[in-house]
Amino acid sequence: MENESNIIKVVAAVKKAKNIIALTGAGISVESGIATFRGKGGLWEKYDPEEYAHIISFIKRPEKSWIMLKEMGEQIFNAKPNLAHTRLTKLQEMGKLNWIITQNVDNLHQEAGSEHIIEFHGNYKTLRCIRCHKQFPFDKEQLAAIPPLPRCTCHGILKPNVVLFGEVPSIESIELAEKAAMHCDIILVIGTSGLVYPAANLPIIAKRHHASIIEINTEPSELTDYLTDYFLQGSAGDVLSKIVNNM
Ligand code: OAD
Repeated sequence: MENESNIIKVVAAVKKAKNIIALTGAGISVESGIATFRGKGGLWEKYDPEEYAHIISFIKRPEKSWIMLKEMGEQIFNAKPNLAHTRLTKLQEMGKLNWIITQNVDNLHQEAGSEHIIEFHGNYKTLRCIRCHKQFPFDKEQLAAIPPLPRCTCHGILKPNVVLFGEVPSIESIELAEKAAMHCDIILVIGTSGLVYPAANLPIIAKRHHASIIEINTEPSELTDYLTDYFLQGSAGDVLSKIVNNM
């Protein structure tokens, strides 16, 4: 019931808003079959991120990091955009959503036809040499052929072009995302635990600039109690459909 009355308020706010942005996290891709990182069944339950997902660990023992990266890739290459991705595309087509800032590396917002996407943590479907930084496309067949580990023409080891722990998002993506957060009147925070910075700063920046925070998540997050204005509990696909269908 609380959700229903919040949906009505959110639809009214979305209709009125001039500049809406979205921050998305792993939860938006759950319905596409990609596991989250934290919580039950999450990737970090099985793999210690310090050991498998830190850039120093990758440089020291790439064959170990690639075990985790291969599991992640198998999910990503088998995934298709779900209702939540396509509802965000619809909001963009309606002229209501300016930017999608995603922490996900699965390319599903692009595959759903969305535009103006800021990929905070990179994209898994490109490989990058850790020695000379040359980039290569990466597909399902190349993933299946690992091991041996993929190598660059300079013989450096290739890694998916994603931000590992110990790395930072590009300055361009941080600047663009922070500017979007400063100027929006609503930020939709969808399927993220809000624990990883600098992405988790974006709702804080938006709030400081008087934006409303609308959060969609199956569970309350780190942000819910102290930052969120409207918490819509449920799966991203269900809740976004309810909003878009009532526009
Ligand atoms: P997390 O795994 O930390 O959080 C996923 C969130 O999605 C949780 O709050 C869940 O409650 C929520 N969730 C689960 N299923 C959902 C559904 N169907 N609909 C809506 N919400 C759902 O993932 P992120 O917050 O994205 O970074 O994690 C942030 C970063 O931490 C990742 O980009 C990754 C990770 O370490 C790097 O690898 C650098």
